[in-house]
Amino acid sequence: MHAVIQDRYGGPDVLRLGELPDPVPAADEVLLQVRAVSLNGSDRENLAGRPAYARWSNGLRRPRHPVPGSDVAGVVAAVGSAVTEYAPGDELFGELAGYRGGLAELVCTRPTLLARKPDWLSFAEASTIPQAGGIARRATADVRPGTRVLVNGAGGAGGVFVVALATHAGAEVTAVDRADKADFLREVGAHRTIDFATEDWADDRDSFDLVVDLVAERSPFRVHRALRRGGRYAMVGGLARILLVTAIAGPLVGLATRKRVGVLVVPQSRAELEAVTALVARGAVTPRIDHVYPLRDAPAAFARLAAGDSMGKIVLDVREG
Ligand SMILES: NC(=O)c1ccc[n+]([C@@H]2O[C@H](COP(=O)([O-])OP(=O)(O)OC[C@H]3O[C@@H](n4cnc5c(N)ncnc54)[C@H](OP(=O)(O)O)[C@@H]3O)[C@@H](O)[C@H]2O)c1
Repeated sequence: MHAVIQDRYGGPDVLRLGELPDPVPAADEVLLQVRAVSLNGSDRENLAGRPAYARWSNGLRRPRHPVPGSDVAGVVAAVGSAVTEYAPGDELFGELAGYRGGLAELVCTRPTLLARKPDWLSFAEASTIPQAGGIARRATADVRPGTRVLVNGAGGAGGVFVVALATHAGAEVTAVDRADKADFLREVGAHRTIDFATEDWADDRDSFDLVVDLVAERSPFRVHRALRRGGRYAMVGGLARILLVTAIAGPLVGLATRKRVGVLVVPQSRAELEAVTALVARGAVTPRIDHVYPLRDAPAAFARLAAGDSMGKIVLDVREG
């Protein structure tokens, strides 16, 4: 099969289109013929091997799994002998374990990580949903009309979904990202935008009921000050040392301040995928695609991801490999 191969950590230039043996599904696996893959910040991290947590599961010196790509949509080509819920020809989508293996014509995965793709979503649209939608649904589960929400890193893959779902739930949303994404973020639903290069949202004391931080770089001892009484800070991604400090000290800061400060861990499951799909069906969030590249142009797709210029998701069309 054709696949995008990454032998080492680095920039988009380390990626090459190559040939790998066709995978064979184990008894409890589905063999998916991949049609579309969307990119997330985690793909950029796993390409670079930075922050450090990208190497904790993926290999310290070089990537253990040579094929990048996590969020896939495709058609079942075969199923293992123990798989009863899906059959060849079914159209499915989901997030691959370890965020690896998607940028290939075929991939094996567990059926519990896949859900049925509705007919009203294209493969490209469905591929935009798993990781970003899961983060956003979990992060905004408590949002009610009038909740004051700040999304840091709002213009990226997950942030756009968080802004959309929070807005749909009636929140007053402040979106923090680059200045040139402000118009796009207002179109998605943000009421106010902050350019992170010129303004520090953490200086806004007692201002937010919920801070969703996708690019955390501030200590939990600082971020809690931006929260109103009873507010919650949820770290989704960011620096590895901030991840460790927030996981360990965040709950203590929360106890001392009567706020909630911690790391949001989003489980991968069919139930999550179905819950997010229901939100998309209700119009709470719309998949937004910035650009679709053929598989052979994966380096260009990752270069756009790294440049941070995309307004919406970058998708690879695997049929055109
Ligand atoms: N907790 C979990 O269970 C879980 C699950 C999956 C993924 N994640 C993590 O979630 C994180 C976010 O993912 P994503 O896909 O949304 O990332 P992304 O697409 O890279 O988006 C990050 C956004 O933040 C912007 N940004 C960069 N520096 C910033 C700063 N200092 N202040 C404010 N905004 C800044 C980026 O702009 P530029 O592009 O211009 O730099 C980009 O628009 C990743 O670290 C990933 O590992 C967590």
